[in-house]
Amino acid sequence: MYMLELEIKKMGINGEGIAYYNRKIVFVDNALPKEKVKVEIVEETDRFVKADLKEIIVKSPFRCIPKCEKFDECGGCNLQHLKYEEQLNIKRELVIEALEKYSGLNPRKFEIKKTIGMSNPYNYRNKVSAPVKDLNGCAWGMYKPNTNHLVILHDCLVQYNDLNDCLNKIVKLMDKLGFKPKSKNEGLIKYIVCRQSNYTKEIQVTLILGETKTDVTPLVDEIKNINNVVSIYTDINKGESPDIFGDKLKKHFGKDFITDKLDKYYFNLLPNAFFQLNSMQAVTLYNEAKKAAKLSLKEKVVDCYCGVGTISIWVSNLAKEVIGIENNKEAIKSAKENALNNKVKNVNFICGDAANELDKIDNIDCIIADPPRSGMRDLAYKILDKEPKRLVYVSCNPSTLAKDIKILSKKYDVKYIQPIDMFPQTSNVEAVVSMVLKNK
Ligand SMILES: C[S@@+](CC[C@H](N)C(=O)[O-])C[C@H]1O[C@@H](n2cnc3c(N)ncnc32)[C@H](O)[C@@H]1O
Repeated sequence: MYMLELEIKKMGINGEGIAYYNRKIVFVDNALPKEKVKVEIVEETDRFVKADLKEIIVKSPFRCIPKCEKFDECGGCNLQHLKYEEQLNIKRELVIEALEKYSGLNPRKFEIKKTIGMSNPYNYRNKVSAPVKDLNGCAWGMYKPNTNHLVILHDCLVQYNDLNDCLNKIVKLMDKLGFKPKSKNEGLIKYIVCRQSNYTKEIQVTLILGETKTDVTPLVDEIKNINNVVSIYTDINKGESPDIFGDKLKKHFGKDFITDKLDKYYFNLLPNAFFQLNSMQAVTLYNEAKKAAKLSLKEKVVDCYCGVGTISIWVSNLAKEVIGIENNKEAIKSAKENALNNKVKNVNFICGDAANELDKIDNIDCIIADPPRSGMRDLAYKILDKEPKRLVYVSCNPSTLAKDIKILSKKYDVKYIQPIDMFPQTSNVEAVVSMVLKNK
């Protein structure tokens, strides 16, 4: 393999520097836009080249020293070497570039607002799903990207400190009591999932196991003494799907759920229900979604992909009626309880596929949709059939957002896009898109 000198033109969706050589795109991890770098080519195909950064010849003024000592190894936070203000600018650019590439529209004509960031862009994650391994003792951490090499962590700077403490204590207990991490045909525990309420500080622990036979009571009996732990579950992951949770969730100790509070609303959280990972920015996200919906108190709103009912409940005081649709049974159960607990009477929840269920609803004024990373797919076509006056698309993936906008733009204009930073130090970006039905 050979060395090259390149100028980094922009940042890619995974936080890598992008340059061009011989009409091929070159990906260089840890290189920043406008830097001149010396790289070593490590992989070359007909379409792209991968290169290792060897030397920075001209450094970006926005480069900074990562706070985390595991930054180079871990890969969980791929933007810690970029000053936070510039992270926000680049996230806005990532949205624009995805739209340029996939939407068939000219995004420079839309109003794309500045990314809303956090005043403290650290210790924001309320949940961690940590793989565990026996590495001369039980350890938790993050897999180095695209490998099965576990980078051992003790103090992850983007998650709540209490979650770091809790994980450190659980792995020590596993060692003390002889509960081994799962490895090939031996051991038991694959992941430890910990979620903490930002409001009550309660922690819920779920041990993700490889099998059902081993009695975990001795471990549970010790974990329940860890500060703030109020709820302990196990689930079984047989490795048949990429999901961490399986379908054998079992409570071993304490409360069924923990309760978080966002603004004035309370949400009960079961271990496997989706909940925004950044409680502080979730408030900003939902306020932006509500603003974009421009509700008048008289309208019928459908919240597609409603999870535990957060957005439905959030917009309920400005709507006549809200219907939430979600395909996870447990989440719908929680959504109904959450509406009841928050004394919200004008929302109803339906369990099912968003596209199928939307088909059965008529006279919709506004749709709010917050799909998973894979985007809307069929739902976009159903929205075109239903023709609500306004559409609010809450996206966690600019590429699928742009592809869906391409479909939706047959009948909808983009009014504006508001990027929001839910995951500081990483290249993930969330966006709220306000869309209106075109005049016929
Ligand atoms: C990004 S989350 C949004 C949840 C919620 N809006 C929130 O902020 O907490 C996406 C949700 O869509 C659900 N989901 C995934 N595919 C679905 C489908 N085809 N139909 C309905 N819901 C689906 C997931 O279970 C998840 O709760």
